[in-house]
Amino acid sequence: MPEGKAIVLFWTKNGNTEKVARRIHNTLQKAGMQASISLIQKDDEIAYLDYNLIFLGAPVYNNLSPVPVLSFLRKNRRRDGVEILASAPEIPGVAAVPFCTFGGGHTGYNEAIPMLKHIGQYFEHEGIRVVDYIASVGFFPEADESYNTKGRFGDIRQRPDEHDLMEVEGRVRGILRRLHRVLPLGNLNL
Ligand SMILES: Cc1cc2nc3c(=O)[nH]c(=O)nc-3n(C[C@H](O)[C@H](O)[C@H](O)COP(=O)(O)O)c2cc1C
Repeated sequence: MPEGKAIVLFWTKNGNTEKVARRIHNTLQKAGMQASISLIQKDDEIAYLDYNLIFLGAPVYNNLSPVPVLSFLRKNRRRDGVEILASAPEIPGVAAVPFCTFGGGHTGYNEAIPMLKHIGQYFEHEGIRVVDYIASVGFFPEADESYNTKGRFGDIRQRPDEHDLMEVEGRVRGILRRLHRVLPLGNLNL
């Protein structure tokens, strides 16, 4: 079983999700984890069980993940060709945190939930416990100006901003503080 290992997998088009991913990665490293970060390519293969903590994030596109991320998820189902286990027994030593950026200009946080839960369900189905979800608001340059200035979150043209990234940092540290006794996360500096 690995110890103290984390990976941040992300996809981005305009950079918002990358900002969040880099802050997660930086926070994991500062806390003393051996963390890597990787841009999701649809044909990549990843051995989830080489890690103790997996963060997987993307922008919300039409309530779900963008197509390259959906392709990546399909390709990386551990159970392809393997017997499906009833009750999806949890695998010890590993946990996942789906994250996203989203505009939320129409219906607010509800726009983030289906995508996060979809990724969460993907991991749970694989036996990988989901321990939290992180949603950060992000500017939607392809949308009308009104979406970005008069939506549910008001003016989002600068988001995610430093305040949002500090919140992400706090959430990641909280996840580590919560889990360090039940997952082999190594010697953490919390
Ligand atoms: C094709 C497309 C569809 C989108 N659909 C949604 C959506 O359904 N709900 C939402 O809240 N934001 C939506 N957005 C906004 C993005 O989720 C938001 O701008 C995100 O922060 C972009 O991330 P990125 O900079 O990492 O590419 C959409 C953006 C694009 C380009």
